Amino acid sequence: MIITVVLGHVRYSVPEEMKPESFVGNIAIDLKLDLKKLPTRKTRVVSEKNDRYFRINMDTGVLIIKEKIDREDVCKHMPSCILPFEVVLETPLEIHSIAVEIMDINDNAPSFPAQSVTLEISESALPGARFLLEGAHDPDVGINSLNTYSLTNNKYFTLDVKIGSDGRKYAEIVLENSLDREVENEYSVILTAVDSGNPQRSGTQQIHIIILDANDNPPVFIQDIYQAKLHKNSQIGTYVITVKATDDDEGSNADIAYSFSHTLDLPPKLFEVDPKSGEVSLIGQLDYEEARFYDIAVQAKDGGGLVTHCKVIVDIIDVNDNLPRITVTSFSSPVPEDSPHGTVIAILNIHDLDSGENGQVRSVINHAFPFKLKSTLNNYFTLVTDRPLDREETPEYNITIFASDKGSPPLYSNKTIFLEISDINDNPPTFERSLFTASVMENNPPGSSIFTVMAHDPDSCENSHLSYSLVDTQYQGMPVSSYVYINSDSGVIHSVQSFDYEKLKELQIQVKAQDRGSPPLSSNATLNIFIQDQNDNAPNVLYPMQEDGSSLTEIVPRSAAAGYLVNKVVAIDADSGQNSWLTYQLLKATEPGLFTVGVHNGEVKTVRHILDKDVTKQRLVVLVMDNGQPPLSASVIFNVAVSNNLPGALSEMHAFSEESEHRTDLTFYLIIALASVSSLFLLSVVLMVSLKFCQTTHFGLIDLASATLPAIPGSYASLSYAGAEGRQIYSYEFCLASDSRKEEFP
Ligand SMILES: *[C@@H]1O[C@H](CO)[C@@H](O)[C@H](O)[C@H]1NC(C)=O
Ligand SMILES: *[C@@H]1O[C@H](CO)[C@@H](O)[C@H](O)[C@H]1NC(C)=O
Repeated sequence: MIITVVLGHVRYSVPEEMKPESFVGNIAIDLKLDLKKLPTRKTRVVSEKNDRYFRINMDTGVLIIKEKIDREDVCKHMPSCILPFEVVLETPLEIHSIAVEIMDINDNAPSFPAQSVTLEISESALPGARFLLEGAHDPDVGINSLNTYSLTNNKYFTLDVKIGSDGRKYAEIVLENSLDREVENEYSVILTAVDSGNPQRSGTQQIHIIILDANDNPPVFIQDIYQAKLHKNSQIGTYVITVKATDDDEGSNADIAYSFSHTLDLPPKLFEVDPKSGEVSLIGQLDYEEARFYDIAVQAKDGGGLVTHCKVIVDIIDVNDNLPRITVTSFSSPVPEDSPHGTVIAILNIHDLDSGENGQVRSVINHAFPFKLKSTLNNYFTLVTDRPLDREETPEYNITIFASDKGSPPLYSNKTIFLEISDINDNPPTFERSLFTASVMENNPPGSSIFTVMAHDPDSCENSHLSYSLVDTQYQGMPVSSYVYINSDSGVIHSVQSFDYEKLKELQIQVKAQDRGSPPLSSNATLNIFIQDQNDNAPNVLYPMQEDGSSLTEIVPRSAAAGYLVNKVVAIDADSGQNSWLTYQLLKATEPGLFTVGVHNGEVKTVRHILDKDVTKQRLVVLVMDNGQPPLSASVIFNVAVSNNLPGALSEMHAFSEESEHRTDLTFYLIIALASVSSLFLLSVVLMVSLKFCQTTHFGLIDLASATLPAIPGSYASLSYAGAEGRQIYSYEFCLASDSRKEEFP
C-alpha cells in the first residue's frame, strides 16, 4: 500500500476491483487525527459522486472500499483514474482533500464487436491487396489495453497492425498469394487480439473469407485421353464413351458445352458428341479395313469462352466377319498328262480381311487328288502336281480349295477350279484280241467283206485316231494283199478274190492298227481266215466208168440168191464235209424190186431170187447225191445180164458192151485213186496225232475213234479239231468206200 502525501493533499492508490472493506489508507495517522474523536467529530467522506466508493472505519481510522470499483466503469478511457473526495470532520470543521488513484488491473480482455465476420475477396485479387478489419476493443488502459493482433497461420493472408489517428490499433488483412477459388473457395481464420497485461488477456474473432469466382478456370477434362473400344461391325447409335470436363468456376463460367474440335481430320458423320452430356456415339458405318482406330479431339467450352481439349481414341476391334477370300491369280488348263512332278497349275491368293487370328488362313485340297498346295510367301499358294497324271484315268478334275481362318468360330470358304488334262500319245492301240478268226464261204464275190477288226486307243483326238493296215507278209508265195485288203478307217477286211475252198482252206494275215499321234504308236493282231466249203462240186462217179452212153454190163447168174452183190458204185466229191457225203439210190430199174443200192456204200445187190419171168437184160440207173444244200448229184447207168450159164453170160456180156479193153485200165485207175485217198487220209491222221502230242490238248483234239476209221465199213469218218479259241470247229470229212472188194473187179 502506497501512501502518498501530497502537499495539502493525501493521496492513495488502490487497484480497482478491490473487495468492499478493503484497506485504502490510514486516514487517522495520515491526517494526524485523534482516533477517539473520530466518531464524535462526525468524520465522513464527502464527494459528489465518489463517496459511494469509500468510507472510514471509525474504530480504526482506516479508509476502506465501500463498493467494488471498476476503473473502466468509473474512468472510462482516461489514462489515469483519480477519484477525489474530501474527508470532513466537524467540531472543528476540518476538510482534507484526499485523492485515491484507482490503478488499472488487466481485468478486461480485448473484445471484438462480433464473434465472426465474413469477408469476401475476389479470386482475381492481386497479392498485396489489403482488407481492413474492424478492430478489437480493450477497456483497460496502458499495458492492459490492446497491444496487438495475430492471425492463425495460413499461407494466403497475413496481418498488418496499424495505429489509427485516434490511437487505436487496427488490423488489415494482406493477401500474400494469389487466390484460387477453385482450390479453396473459403477460408476461416481466427483473428486474435491480445493485451500486455499480466496475466495477458486476449479476444478472438473468426474471419470467414469467401473467395468470389472469376472465370479464371478453363474446363478441365477428367482424363486427358479417353480410350474406347468398338467392334468393327458396331451398329449405328452405339455408345462409345462419355467424356467429362469440369469447370471449377461457378455459374455460367462453369457451363460446359462439348463438341468435336475440327482441327483434326475426322471422317465426317462417323461420331457425334452430345453437347450437354459429353456422350460420344457412333453415327456412321465403321470401316475396319480403312482405320484401326480413330483419334477424336473433343473440346469443352465454358460459358466464359474458355476451351479445353481432350482426346478420345477409339480402337476398332476386329471381329471374324470376313471369309477367307480365294483368288486365282494364274491358272493354266489344260495341263499335259506327262507334266513332271511339281508342275505349277495355279497360283492362288488366299487372304482374309480380318486381322490377327481371324485373318490367318489355312487351306487344303482333296488328298486323293494328285495335287498339293504349296504355301509361298504372303498368302500366296501354288497348286502343283504331286503325282503322275493320267488323262486316260481321270481326264479332268474339279479341284476344290478349302480355306478357313483361325477365328472362333472359324469361317470357311472354298473355290473350285476345273482342270483339264490334255492328252499325250502314251497308249498304243490295242486290239480286242491278239488272234482273230473269221470264216468266209468260198466262191465269195471279190470285194465282199470278211471280217472287221477293231482296235481301241484310250488316248484322245489324233492320238486315238486309228488307221488299219495289213502287215505285208506272204502267204503261199503270194503277198497277202492279193487275197484281202483292209479299209484303213473302218477295219473292215474285204476279199480281193473269190476263194476256192478246194484250193485255199485257210489264210493267216497280220493286221496293224496305228494311231496318228506323234510319234505314232501301233500294235498288230493276227487274223486267221478260214475258207468254208460250199457244195460247188457234184459227185464224180469213178466206177463204173461212163463213156459215151455205153455202160458196163454185169452178169448175174439166174441162180443167184437174194443179197447177191452185183456191183458197187464208187463216187467221190471234191467238196468236203456234208457236201461230200454221198448217198446212193436206185433211180430207175427195168424190173423194180429186183435190185437195191446200198444208200451209203453204193453196193448193188439183188433183193430176191431171180425168177424165170425176169427179163435177161436189166438196166439200172443209180443216182449219186451229195449232202450239200442244195444237193448235187450224178447218175450212173449200168446193165445187168441175167444168165443161166457162163457162155451165155459171156455172150450177153459181149452183146452189152465193147469196152472191156478199157476196163482193166479203169480198175487200175480206180485203185490208184482209192489208194491215194486212203494214203491222204492216213497222212492226215498221222499229222493230227503228232499235233496232238506236240501241242497242248487245247489245240488239235483228235477223236480217237477216227483212228479206227478203216474198220468201219462204208462209214464216214469224222475228224474234228477245235480252234485255238474253241470257237469254231472245222470238220474235214472223208468219204471212203473202204470195203470195196477187189474181187468184184473182173
Ligand atoms: C466338274 O464340275 C462341272 C461343273 O459343276 C461338272 O459339269 C463336271 O462334271 C465336274 N467334273 C468332275 C470330274 O467332277
Ligand atoms: C507286229 O508285227 C511285227 C512285224 O511282223 C512284229 O515284229 C511285232 O512283234 C508285232 N507286234 C505285236 C505286238 O504283235
